[in-house]
Amino acid sequence: MRLASSPVQRLLVLGGTQEARELCEALAPRVDIAATLSLAGVTRTPRAVAIDTRYGGFGGSAGLAAYICANDITAVVDATHPFAARISANAAAACRDTGCMLWRLERPAWSPTITRRGWHSVTDVPSAAEALTEYGPRVFLTVGARSLAAFTDVADKYWITRSIEAPEHPLTPSTHIRGRPPFSYAKEITLLRDYAVDVLVTKNSGAPMLADKLRAADAAGVAIIMIERPALSPADRAFSRVIDVLSALSGHQ
Ligand SMILES: NC(=O)c1ccc[n+]([C@@H]2O[C@H](COP(=O)([O-])OP(=O)(O)OC[C@H]3O[C@@H](n4cnc5c(N)ncnc54)[C@H](OP(=O)(O)O)[C@@H]3O)[C@@H](O)[C@H]2O)c1
Repeated sequence: MRLASSPVQRLLVLGGTQEARELCEALAPRVDIAATLSLAGVTRTPRAVAIDTRYGGFGGSAGLAAYICANDITAVVDATHPFAARISANAAAACRDTGCMLWRLERPAWSPTITRRGWHSVTDVPSAAEALTEYGPRVFLTVGARSLAAFTDVADKYWITRSIEAPEHPLTPSTHIRGRPPFSYAKEITLLRDYAVDVLVTKNSGAPMLADKLRAADAAGVAIIMIERPALSPADRAFSRVIDVLSALSGHQ
């Protein structure tokens, strides 16, 4: 039985995004809500959040359903990255099987814009690798360390990659830049010019902290290959801003 009209008391926030962290920081002082943040455990040095935090997978949708029951979770807030499709599918299945509410917090995607060198939308990471044959050799690849493998067979490129932690299996030849967002417009312009980047490959995360990368690419005459978002299962309620989740929790929406 769904508990859609019951007051939310025990929240499980599936995280890995800035929005999840902001939501949890806002929930920390609330005495009416016991929230737990769940992180996949892929970042070795995640920023600390002032609420109960658990790390690592649940063991598929059945494991997540068992966690929901064992911890009397009344609502799951899926605030994972728009490209984290597996955990979102697991959350949908586990909530369906347990009758738990599922809310989704997802920032809006970036809209295609007219850029000087063009915005080339592709449906997934392998399609981005294929599309690269049409572009110059110097590629700024900001797709996350675990998506690099799709590019290993692309010939005649020099890769510039960036992530919080160095990739275990870097592409060759490449330069890896370690960095944690936000990245300012000025820094992005400098990077694109210093490395003489021809094309930027990125996922349509919609993250405000990363939007300057697109503006800088346009200003520097760098082409953009945009990997668009996968389709996710519908949730009981969907929000695009942290403040709207907080209002809904307070019964104002
Ligand atoms: N994909 C991206 O581009 C990207 C970018 C930035 C941040 N992130 C964050 O990094 C994490 C992993 O992303 P992904 O793309 O590898 O996810 P994914 O493919 O959707 O999930 C893979 C497995 O990781 C576990 N998992 C993922 N998120 C979890 C969470 N918040 N709490 C507990 N377990 C979680 C689950 O394991 P079990 O099946 O064992 O439960 C899931 O089946 C996510 O939390 C996501 O928000 C992803």
